Amino acid sequence: MSIYRNTVWFVKGLKEYTRGGYEAAAKHFTPDDLQVDLSGRSFVITGANSGIGKAAAQEIASRGGTIHMVCRNKDRAEAAKDEIVEQSKNQNVHVHIVDLSSAHQVWEFAQNFSQNNTVHVLINNAGCMVNQRELTEEGLEKNFATNTLGTYIITTALMPALKKVQDSRVITVSSGGMLTQKLNVDDLQFEKGTFDGTMAYAQNKRQQVILTERWASQHKEVHFSSMHPGWADTPAVQSSMPGFHAKMQGRLRTETMGADTVVWLAAAAAAAKQPSGLFFQDRKAVATHLPLASSRSTPQEEEKLLQVLEQFAAKFKQFS
Ligand SMILES: NC(=O)c1ccc[n+]([C@@H]2O[C@H](COP(=O)([O-])OP(=O)(O)OC[C@H]3O[C@@H](n4cnc5c(N)ncnc54)[C@H](OP(=O)(O)O)[C@@H]3O)[C@@H](O)[C@H]2O)c1
Repeated sequence: MSIYRNTVWFVKGLKEYTRGGYEAAAKHFTPDDLQVDLSGRSFVITGANSGIGKAAAQEIASRGGTIHMVCRNKDRAEAAKDEIVEQSKNQNVHVHIVDLSSAHQVWEFAQNFSQNNTVHVLINNAGCMVNQRELTEEGLEKNFATNTLGTYIITTALMPALKKVQDSRVITVSSGGMLTQKLNVDDLQFEKGTFDGTMAYAQNKRQQVILTERWASQHKEVHFSSMHPGWADTPAVQSSMPGFHAKMQGRLRTETMGADTVVWLAAAAAAAKQPSGLFFQDRKAVATHLPLASSRSTPQEEEKLLQVLEQFAAKFKQFS
């Protein structure tokens, strides 16, 4: 952990990641960017029953897109689906029950799904910050399994389907918290030292940004972006960071504000004109490192991340 990085990041966050930061940035948005008809396009959104994912699903459904909600809890997912259908008047909203922390479930879903459906846009939104070191049934640390491996497997398994269509996009909801972290590929399961859920989460979010850059250079047919939604008032922030949530009352973004750049990256023509692989905040590509933060990784470390994830993914594919 670097005290310098954490302090610089928090001061930056108070200015940019809050509701006030959003309102200042929104003055420069082009409103017409989101005047789009998305009918005929298919959007797979993980964690679409709550928070930023649900707000993004709502905005996309209102513009006519077909929504595939990938969620772990049937009751929560169906309740959110009913709300989205009612508000958007769009019946093309479907629920798929998948636990993103279960590698074999993710493989099974994505492989079946891509055989029978079209995918224009994948939004990797589901995420968690688990504050105790917990293992999944597959023996993987839970933050890593959900945020990094789940994202890696669903993206890899849907890649052939994404490559079959025009203007396909993958958006990964990372976090500005990743700016506090340098890639650590030697301890992906957080086995060494004292476990810190906030740091584990931020490390996963750094990994998502690096994966996005790597995918962009490997798969030119698909447009990739990662993004930071800002600090939005969602169930995850309330339950995983109660102290922060209480301190920031009144200054947090709404879920819709948090979802704005997700929707823009998924839907706007202007977004697809940006180079692939960048990290966005409030509809603008932004730096992936703080000044003087020494958080850059080497190409070898990044290559190793991909190799290790490929090995994990292959291991669980056998059982799907
Ligand atoms: N809110 C912020 O200020 C903020 C800031 C930076 C980044 N983010 C990122 O934004 C994304 C959305 O979070 P949020 O703030 O909108 O929180 P949220 O309302 O709690 O949404 C998180 C979603 O992810 C789902 N999810 C978590 N683990 C899952 C699993 N194993 N399998 C399937 N779905 C799973 C949750 O499902 P359940 O409802 O079943 O729990 C929920 O639908 C996350 O990636 C988060 O890291 C948020």
